Amino acid sequence: MPETDALNMDRLRRETAAYGARLGRRPSACVVTFGCQMNARDSEKLLGVLLAAGFKEAADETADLVVINTCTVRENANERLYGHLGHLNSMKREHPEKLIALCGCMMQEADEAEKIKTKYPFVDLVFGTHNLYRFPALLADRMAGGGRVFELWDSPKAIVEDLPKKREVPYRSGVNISFGCDNFCSYCIVPYVRGRERSRRLEDILKEVCELADDGVIEIMLLGQNVNSYGKGLESPVSFAELLKQVCAVEGIKRVRFMTSHPKDLSDALIEAIRDNEKVCRHLHLPLQSGSSRILKAMNRRYDKEGYLALTERIRAAVPDISLTTDIIVGFPGETEEDFEETLDVVRRVRFDSAFTFIYSPRTGTPAAAMPDQVPKEVVKERFARLLDLVQKIGAEESGRDVGRILPALVEGLDAATPGRVTGRLGNNVMVHFPGDASLIGQIVDVHLKEVRGFYYIGEKV
Ligand code: 5AD
Ligand code: SF4
Repeated sequence: MPETDALNMDRLRRETAAYGARLGRRPSACVVTFGCQMNARDSEKLLGVLLAAGFKEAADETADLVVINTCTVRENANERLYGHLGHLNSMKREHPEKLIALCGCMMQEADEAEKIKTKYPFVDLVFGTHNLYRFPALLADRMAGGGRVFELWDSPKAIVEDLPKKREVPYRSGVNISFGCDNFCSYCIVPYVRGRERSRRLEDILKEVCELADDGVIEIMLLGQNVNSYGKGLESPVSFAELLKQVCAVEGIKRVRFMTSHPKDLSDALIEAIRDNEKVCRHLHLPLQSGSSRILKAMNRRYDKEGYLALTERIRAAVPDISLTTDIIVGFPGETEEDFEETLDVVRRVRFDSAFTFIYSPRTGTPAAAMPDQVPKEVVKERFARLLDLVQKIGAEESGRDVGRILPALVEGLDAATPGRVTGRLGNNVMVHFPGDASLIGQIVDVHLKEVRGFYYIGEKV
């Protein structure tokens, strides 16, 4: 970082101290996150900035400063924000010095930001996804007593590397590898609110991973809207498979995961990289969205049913014990009963370990929102229930297939329900409970999986 106060951290520290003096105590802050892993990682940066500036972390929204990192991928995410705002407003009436900041994807929607500006006067600060690194400067401006601060950019200007970060857990971290998305799936708002795809430089990613490893991190989650297209447009282009290998080679890193894979860009080189690197977790999240080739075309997904099935077969042939999970949207415009049956067919054939199922939600500005033949609510609800039933039935049948095996688990914490037991996560993302104490937290241990209970195992450390 340049010696000048480029990020405005010094200025933020001074303004935080002054704010604390007005309150008569050290100010507290709480960052609330909606949405995906990408937002979760952004929130670690927001909290990192706040702690470095002198705030203390608060457990809930009674904090002096509340930052809400919003999501807008489906309408219910937007509704959730407005629910929170009502509550925050009544808290601010009791505590007029309280500060409320909003950021994230929903603020990138001009209509929503405008609504906040005109109808929610108690909101102090609004910024977006492209200018997250301006947070220290903008918060300092607000605390310095200027008016409300609204700064929104419609496109990104730079990838800024050096924001402080506060990890949620000491032993695991997300690492951004790319930002934005170029795919323009016709239902999806992400390309509009996160911008075009930009990859971080390989050196910067590896530097961050090395620093994390030095700081005690053993599990890395590589994050991008479409990790499989990583590296395009870089000065020296690199493939995702190559990046994955290099991340695996970092000493101290024991597990590597990644999110999200677009089926159209998943290369054989990547399948080989997964197969040949023990550190890569045996779990692949591979959004299907629909099993109907006709709907996939309307979704602009650029693969068809047969292509998806063939891909999962190639993956399973190379890595037989991999766990496949997916995202499915029900009720995309024009979806007929036959189209929906195709989705059920893919679910039956691939036998996902689990699936996130969503009811199609029209997003203003996306092509699908303007398509004719929006499917009636009752029909969507009925299909959604059938899909959920099938997904759960197959998930239940598949769970337990590793009973009897000894597998490594990363211990995440004490088992809240049973004293004397800890909870660990297997490479395939399934949980196992076994006898142990707090000293195991953050370690990877071999566990004998003795029985399955619903979707988790009971085991014993070997
Ligand atoms: N409606 C419903 N689900 C959506 N998703 C993205 N956009 C929409 C939408 N408009 C789902 C997709 C994606 C996941 C993150 O959210 O399944 O993979
Ligand atoms: Fe949205 Fe498609 Fe990009 Fe995923 S790949 S973020 S669904 S546009």
